[in-house]
Amino acid sequence: MSILKEKKILLGITAGIAAYKTASLVRLFIKLGAEVKVIMTPASKNFITPLTLSTLSKNPVHSTFYSKEDENELWNNHVDLGLWADYMLIAPATANTLSKMANGTCDNLLLATYLSSKCPVYFAPAMDLDMYKHPSSIESLNKLQSFDNILIPATSGELASGLIGEGRMAEPEDIVSFIEKDISSKLPLKGKKVLVTAGPTYEAIDPVRFIGNHSSGKMGFAIASAAANLGAEVFLISGPSNQQIKHSLVHRVDVVSAEEMYDASHMYFKDVDIAILSAAVADYKPKNSASEKIKKTDTALELSLSPTKDILASLGAIKKQQYLVGFALETNNEIENAKGKLKRKNLDAIILNSLQDKGAGFANDTNKITIIDKELNEKAFKLKSKVAVAKDIMNEIVNRTKKQDE
Ligand code: CTP
Repeated sequence: MSILKEKKILLGITAGIAAYKTASLVRLFIKLGAEVKVIMTPASKNFITPLTLSTLSKNPVHSTFYSKEDENELWNNHVDLGLWADYMLIAPATANTLSKMANGTCDNLLLATYLSSKCPVYFAPAMDLDMYKHPSSIESLNKLQSFDNILIPATSGELASGLIGEGRMAEPEDIVSFIEKDISSKLPLKGKKVLVTAGPTYEAIDPVRFIGNHSSGKMGFAIASAAANLGAEVFLISGPSNQQIKHSLVHRVDVVSAEEMYDASHMYFKDVDIAILSAAVADYKPKNSASEKIKKTDTALELSLSPTKDILASLGAIKKQQYLVGFALETNNEIENAKGKLKRKNLDAIILNSLQDKGAGFANDTNKITIIDKELNEKAFKLKSKVAVAKDIMNEIVNRTKKQDE
């Protein structure tokens, strides 16, 4: 899955011959699952038509603050466009536009949007070789980089003038992979390792029967995916679950029983930076699991149960660098019970979900949580999809671990 999936990309096109390549650029972004909006400088429309780009991007293309042809003219709000974007890319970026960007000139919609944007801005220069080498162009490139705008260097080759040298806009495929790599290298959990437990555990009564619970694994899988999307290498230890996950950074380890989950968790815990235990681990298991199928009789069958080992508490007892997060599913006196678990199990934070809240807890696609950290700060969230809850949890953990590292 590309890091650009579901990202909002604002493509600014300026008047260089390389503008004809932006059709491919838009297609590549769309293929990766990104959403694209295009702004053109008026002169760039001589090189490629807005119709081509609006068809490919499936969005209207803007080039002026308002449309003169349209009687019900609507103001194209540069502030909204700037704030909409997760990433802005100016490609091709001409010497003229680069100089204006570097000096805060604001005489068209593209430049006004650039000045209003708060997101990372990439720019891919395209110009003739002598223009690219001119001290004023070099000054613009340096100045823009000092604003933390990101240069996608021009390449060498045959130029529109017939001259051969540096100044060609990077190829669309190379622009896309440059941006993907750049974003990945700056993710907040890049280089970090995260352990996640998920799903139920099954405790065998005999070879065909078990004690289990209704946990689906959805919450844990969503957390694993959110952590990987932030750049972490994730070890997802899952009890029996039919959830699927496909992410190159997630290593799935399937287990069945609490004992197996305990062993696997301890094996990975030593090396991780963050551990989030969301599994619904069985608290008890049959004292003796029969090796043959138990035959039906007319008399009552009594099962004797013994407690399983508490994985979370055992990790809390040995934790060093790890930021350890547990879950608490409560029905009454929720905050107090969760705080008790936080202390007892030596956690850095606990995620409370109350069965009193409609839509929270097991098997649902939604959850409603409160995060309590070890300073006993409480933060309550609204009912959301588990995917959105997982993002909230990861953002809270990233903010807290960042403070810890500082
Ligand atoms: N947990 C665990 N190992 C167990 C039981 C629970 O790692 N054997 C973890 C869960 O993954 C969760 C947290 O402990 O993160 C809370 O589990 P919960 O069952 O709510 O708490 P308990 O301590 O078992 O307390 P109680 O059942 O009495 O509420």
